[in-house]
Amino acid sequence: MNDDVRKYIFGAITVFLVGVTAWISIIYVSACGVTLACNRGKPSVDRTPIPTLIPATLPVSDVSWDVENPEPAPLTNSDTCRVPAVNFIGAWAALQTPKSTEADPFYFVDEDGQNCEAAFSDVLALLNQPDLRGADSLACTSCHSGDLTVAPAQLDLSSFTGIMTGSRREAKKPKGTDILGDGEWKESLLYDHLAVAKPNVPGHEQTLSADYLISVGRPFAGPLPTATP
Ligand code: HEC
Repeated sequence: MNDDVRKYIFGAITVFLVGVTAWISIIYVSACGVTLACNRGKPSVDRTPIPTLIPATLPVSDVSWDVENPEPAPLTNSDTCRVPAVNFIGAWAALQTPKSTEADPFYFVDEDGQNCEAAFSDVLALLNQPDLRGADSLACTSCHSGDLTVAPAQLDLSSFTGIMTGSRREAKKPKGTDILGDGEWKESLLYDHLAVAKPNVPGHEQTLSADYLISVGRPFAGPLPTATP
């Protein structure tokens, strides 16, 4: 009788243990498959279709500086020249002779003491530039255009020939009044109408400030060519 009870108890425990083992095995195999290295259980990485880190394409900027001497390096030997606009126009004007052509380069010394070279087209760009003499100032050529029937003082500032021919060309005179001062820039009509305010002349209320700096032309290696023949 005792033996029977013991058999039932051992039988029940065995059945229970076998059942539990089988149950765990079924769960393991259904989750991991028939393997001992269960790597299906590792969390998978979800990837967004849009890259969130944009690959860097810009060159690395040089952020190093001289700790001993934190002053910025002086702007010498840069690839353009800095000069007050009125001096720049004056440098061109002073070099013009009856033999000069539109294609001739001209030379000047800029704010940093560099020898510089520029072209007539750089001067023309200033005469075509609105706001040269302050906010809302009109470009010279918006009044002094190539149409002499409307251009004030019959002065055409829109071309080399127009400027060289001068002002007040009534009755289609081939040559007008010189505006370039014949080598004396500060005596010229052009300087006078750029740098001196004329409250009573429409378009000339504002002046071109003497310290309005522009970046123009390029440094010129070697000594400046002197006196044009
Ligand atoms: C709003 C129109 C207007 C604009 C813009 C203008 N001017 Fe004039 N300019 C005049 C008028 C008007 C006169 C005087 C005409 C007269 O006296 O018969 C004049 C006269 C001149 C004269 C004198 C010519 C002479 O023989 O007396 C020069 C030089 C001149 N302007 C240059 C310039 C320059 C350089 C600019 C640009 C910085 C400029 N003007 C912009 C209207 C204008």
